Amino acid sequence: MAELLVLSRADLKRILSLEETIAAVEEGFISYAQKSARIFPVVREPIPEFHAMFGMKSGYIEKSHLLGTKIAGYWPGNRENQYEPHQAIIILLDPATGVPYFLSDGNYITQIRTAAAGSLALQHLARKDASVAAILGTGVQGQGQAAALLTTLKLIKEIRLFDPIEEAVQKIMKVITAINENVSLVHASTPEEAVRGAEVVITCTPSQQMIVKSEWIEAGTHISAFGADTKGKQELDPELFTRAKIVVDDTVQARALGDTQHAVNKGLIKIEDIHAELGEILSGKKSGRTSSDEITIFDATGLSVQDLAAAGRAFELAKKKKIGTHVEI
Ligand SMILES: NC(=O)c1ccc[n+]([C@@H]2O[C@H](COP(=O)([O-])OP(=O)(O)OC[C@H]3O[C@@H](n4cnc5c(N)ncnc54)[C@H](O)[C@@H]3O)[C@@H](O)[C@H]2O)c1
Repeated sequence: MAELLVLSRADLKRILSLEETIAAVEEGFISYAQKSARIFPVVREPIPEFHAMFGMKSGYIEKSHLLGTKIAGYWPGNRENQYEPHQAIIILLDPATGVPYFLSDGNYITQIRTAAAGSLALQHLARKDASVAAILGTGVQGQGQAAALLTTLKLIKEIRLFDPIEEAVQKIMKVITAINENVSLVHASTPEEAVRGAEVVITCTPSQQMIVKSEWIEAGTHISAFGADTKGKQELDPELFTRAKIVVDDTVQARALGDTQHAVNKGLIKIEDIHAELGEILSGKKSGRTSSDEITIFDATGLSVQDLAAAGRAFELAKKKKIGTHVEI
């Protein structure tokens, strides 16, 4: 009889810290760069009668025997009921038999595995002495990236925040203050006010047009763009790609779904202009930042290996700490 370990979001929050997730996700990216992990084609299909988007990200990390999928999507109508618009669930299967053994909430894992990717990008692409950062889009991912920023760049003294929703800014301010009450917080009234002069710029919005103009970005700035993960979404000025060292999580996904799609579609860059995938930098195959005046971009679309690596770590920790519910199926 197959037995599933089921973890709720509350279970995951108890066991899966950002530090644990950074370590797991780093291994996932490295496995991918070393070709001992595969990502399968992403499913993203509209469900028009509910204005919803259904998606699936699946893959296999051979080295850690992690095979599975995240079913995730966006149901905007949920704002009118008790559910969140973002819905996600993760399933791991035994690669030898196909028997499922792990099922968990996917929203928390999405937030923390994306924050982990953000931390890894900052470690290798941002200036170590960066003290001023901007976050555009202060929802679920913005909050996760704020935690990653403060965990990774210890000299950050000021964070500028921009979001059209006032409560979203108030919420992230509370999150940041709980982590470090000495960081000075600026509620910017425009993206330009947040971005000009910031040494690190992080974007986490569902925008379909550019919100960061190239002319606002100075030499030495690092930009991590998380929001564009679907055809048509956009946060960055495509011109910025012509001035920057471009790093992506996966070239094929970034070309199809990330901000890279716009720079390539406009003919401003070619695929060969992408400097590296993050895993190539983490595995020492390619360089990260090499000078203090480089502009660096991390175009993150979100990989299944991040979900699998984080879920695999959650499974190990849950077994060790005897957390979760066992269900026979
Ligand atoms: N790259 C990845 O790995 C990854 C992972 C998860 C989510 N995402 C994407 O990140 C984006 C944000 O996801 P989320 O879960 O944080 O959503 P969310 O709804 O929790 O937060 C998004 C925030 O962006 C704000 N916003 C909307 N338009 C804006 C604009 N023009 N300028 C500034 N802020 C704006 C909204 O008011 C909201 O507060 C989505 O596009 C999502 O698909 C990417």
